[in-house]
Amino acid sequence: MATVLGIDERAILAAAEMLARGELVAIPTETVYGLAADATNGNAVAGIFEAKGRPHFNPLICHVSDIAMAERYAKIDPVSRLLIDTFWPGPLTLVLPLKPDADIHPLVAAGLDTIALRMPRGVAGKIIAALGRPLAAPSANTSGKISGTSAIAVDQDLGAKIAMILDAGPSEVGLESTIVKVDGDTILMLRPGGLAAEEIEAVTRQTLGRVDQRAAIQAPGMMASHYAPSAGMRLNVHEVRAGEALLAFGPERAVGHANAVAILNLSEIGSLHEAATNLFDFMKRLDITGSSTIAVEPIPFNGLGEAINDRLIRAAAPRSLSVAEMEQIK
Ligand code: TXA
Ligand code: MG
Repeated sequence: MATVLGIDERAILAAAEMLARGELVAIPTETVYGLAADATNGNAVAGIFEAKGRPHFNPLICHVSDIAMAERYAKIDPVSRLLIDTFWPGPLTLVLPLKPDADIHPLVAAGLDTIALRMPRGVAGKIIAALGRPLAAPSANTSGKISGTSAIAVDQDLGAKIAMILDAGPSEVGLESTIVKVDGDTILMLRPGGLAAEEIEAVTRQTLGRVDQRAAIQAPGMMASHYAPSAGMRLNVHEVRAGEALLAFGPERAVGHANAVAILNLSEIGSLHEAATNLFDFMKRLDITGSSTIAVEPIPFNGLGEAINDRLIRAAAPRSLSVAEMEQIK
């Protein structure tokens, strides 16, 4: 069983020591909890894939404590640098060319010549600074399941498989980071996330290119079905069917909501920020009601709504098919 520790100086040092020994530690970040390992230690990184049951071709995000650490591992172009200066520490990951002499273990980038880097807010940065090396950390959840946004959720899912969990309460943002790659003159958003596209565009004064998520070439290993609860998901619902649980949004309810087995409202006041924070937790809570389907009211696509809808669409996708398989049968 994992040791669960609250945040203080001792816990930070204990976590850094565990990580230095090649153990896995679940750490809080402002987006979601991460399942962290020393990114320079191949055995430790392999342990992440094992614990998550994650396919090996899916590259991991590397977390740094400061810009100097990022520069040790990646070549940073001027636009990426502007984004780093504006949004780090924060929910933005940049895919950058890996320096040839970087001692990041190749398993982290799954053999690619690029590396996804981010500087998280909060205690994670202190742990990385204490360790002196970057941390590879995907979301702390079994592959394909809902991302962990609290220490309890992580403990229930992965507690038996990892050494330690640091508990800093519920994640502030509640959605994974936005992933961006600067490619010549274009700025591609590879994954919508906790930083809205509009905020990035306000700084770059350039519309972000969107990746066809179904093609999944830029972000290899992105599964169509992801973040999946056990229940089925029905999106954009205006009328609730008998026996469904309802994931609501905003002040007005869908027709037939009184028939719902359970109702949780992502944000009574229609705040996308609040909805992002609640999303994964509420999906889990409705899932354990045992209803066969979670009906979801419409959620606007602007701001953080893009990432929220992305996660909902993945949660609603057929469970056993990868993106590549879906492309083939189309
Ligand atoms: O908020 C977050 O980003 C969380 C917290 C823990 O920091 N981390 C997270 O990491 O979501 P992970 O490993 O679950 O997400 C990795 C995503 C995958 O979709 C992967 O395909 C993409 O990043 N990725 C990683 N390295 C890449 C690369 N070199 N090129 C393109 N995509 C990459
Ligand atoms: Mg994940």
